[in-house]
Amino acid sequence: MIFAANFKMNHTRATTADYMQALAKRMGEKRVEDRVVVFPPATALDSYKGDFTVGAQNAYPATSGAYTGETGIVQLEEFGIKTILIGHSERREILGESQEVIAEKFQFFLSQGFEIIYCIGEPLEVREQGDEAVASYLLAQFEGIDTHGEKLIVAYEPIWAIGTGRSATVEEISSTHKMLKSHINVPLLYGGSVKPNNIQEIIAVDGVDGVLVGGASLEVESFMALVTA
Ligand code: 13P
Repeated sequence: MIFAANFKMNHTRATTADYMQALAKRMGEKRVEDRVVVFPPATALDSYKGDFTVGAQNAYPATSGAYTGETGIVQLEEFGIKTILIGHSERREILGESQEVIAEKFQFFLSQGFEIIYCIGEPLEVREQGDEAVASYLLAQFEGIDTHGEKLIVAYEPIWAIGTGRSATVEEISSTHKMLKSHINVPLLYGGSVKPNNIQEIIAVDGVDGVLVGGASLEVESFMALVTA
């Protein structure tokens, strides 16, 4: 299983350092075959030591250059960061990243040998139209995306389940993951209101290879409750 923590715009450099130190001490509690990945905000990126991977929540598809406000390969490599989240619904919806921009980022970081956690997810109005509408919406998010990469992980995060406390049901996760797995042969995470009280039923679903967690990952204690569930 893969347990990924997306801090989003939470935690500072100081609180992230404390978190990483506490997390490192507890990595002996996870199963050897499980993986932990943490995505702190850009200002808190560093070369943290521990049995976990540190990734970037976002970056610009260039090595360095005249891109005011952005983070490139040079800045990530300073900390040995080779893992990135691409396509998160908050970047699509709030930051206005189009599928074209996302595909360009994807191709760039793929060509640079990065491990990519590629996020997809449908809004509520699409979910309410039924399985076929969900399938065609989600598959459209693979436009321009090479899904054969060895270092690719996909995260299915229904937008209506993110930060709402309303996770998708086991049936919704199961049928959506089954549909996605018939098109892509890579590890598939579920994300959206994953909490200590629903982790067991979620990771038991066939086709779930791990979770991408926002709110419940912000405290080491609650994140570890997921990892050790
Ligand atoms: P929550 O776990 O807070 O719902 O966030 C999910 C998410 O968007 C992770 O990327």
